[in-house]
Amino acid sequence: MHLSGNTVLITGGSSGIGLALARQFQIHNNRVIITGRDGAKLASAEKELPGIHTFRTDHTDPASAISLRDYISEHHPALNVLINNAGVQYSYAFGHDPASAGNIATETQINFIAPLLLTNALLPFLTGQPASAIVFVSSALYIAPKRSAPVYCATKAAIHTFAKALRYQLEGSSVKVFEIIPPLVDTAMTTDRSSSGKMSTDRLARIFIRNFHSDDTEQYIGKSRLLKMLSRISPRLAESMMKNG
Ligand SMILES: NC(=O)c1ccc[n+]([C@@H]2O[C@H](COP(=O)([O-])OP(=O)(O)OC[C@H]3O[C@@H](n4cnc5c(N)ncnc54)[C@H](OP(=O)(O)O)[C@@H]3O)[C@@H](O)[C@H]2O)c1
Repeated sequence: MHLSGNTVLITGGSSGIGLALARQFQIHNNRVIITGRDGAKLASAEKELPGIHTFRTDHTDPASAISLRDYISEHHPALNVLINNAGVQYSYAFGHDPASAGNIATETQINFIAPLLLTNALLPFLTGQPASAIVFVSSALYIAPKRSAPVYCATKAAIHTFAKALRYQLEGSSVKVFEIIPPLVDTAMTTDRSSSGKMSTDRLARIFIRNFHSDDTEQYIGKSRLLKMLSRISPRLAESMMKNG
């Protein structure tokens, strides 16, 4: 993929990995649009990255994909890169926590249903461009899950499988399907985890950009790569290492 001259939409671009990706795409002279729920975070991103475009939406609302499609159609019809990044992770005792039922629906909606609905709504724009990309952000936890967040791990495994099958479906078209499989990254999502061994968001984004340029579609980054190799050699060891993470 070209590194410059793209029109890039990043869901959940107001913090963490999404914001770091937005920064990198701006540095390389692309038009960048980000989404998020929190208006203050979007305003702060606008301040940090002048020229960025923001769209406030809640991806748990199935109508979000349609309103975003209409906004893109009116303001950014040259869209050629969609990055499905927005996500949440909830830890709870399945079946016991009173919040379980609500959490199951919300987490599945944001992490799995919303990216599919948005991809479905925006694909006609992407196929109309000479070179396009759809990027999904899964997780090393799709390879080996942890006990504390079973729904999160399952949504990431589902995204991994979906990305692969969509890649097959779009073979021969102008659209390439990428997947980022991050290791543990230092963001708001992981503040409750010990700080040792977390990758910085900027490092992750710089590695992604380099791989994006060389059309590396399945990107196992940092320790995710090691975990993938270990899971081939000794799946049980990989699983026991991740289980209590
Ligand atoms: N951090 C890690 O170690 C790690 C590892 C592997 C994969 N990932 C994945 O990387 C992606 C980004 O996570 P992060 O670590 O960067 O987390 P983060 O800093 O918490 O950022 C999450 C982003 O998603 C947005 N978002 C969440 N729910 C939303 C909703 N319902 N509607 C619209 N926007 C929503 C947030 O905006 P608002 O705050 O405004 O809602 C924020 O911009 C996620 O898919 C996550 O699963 C993270």
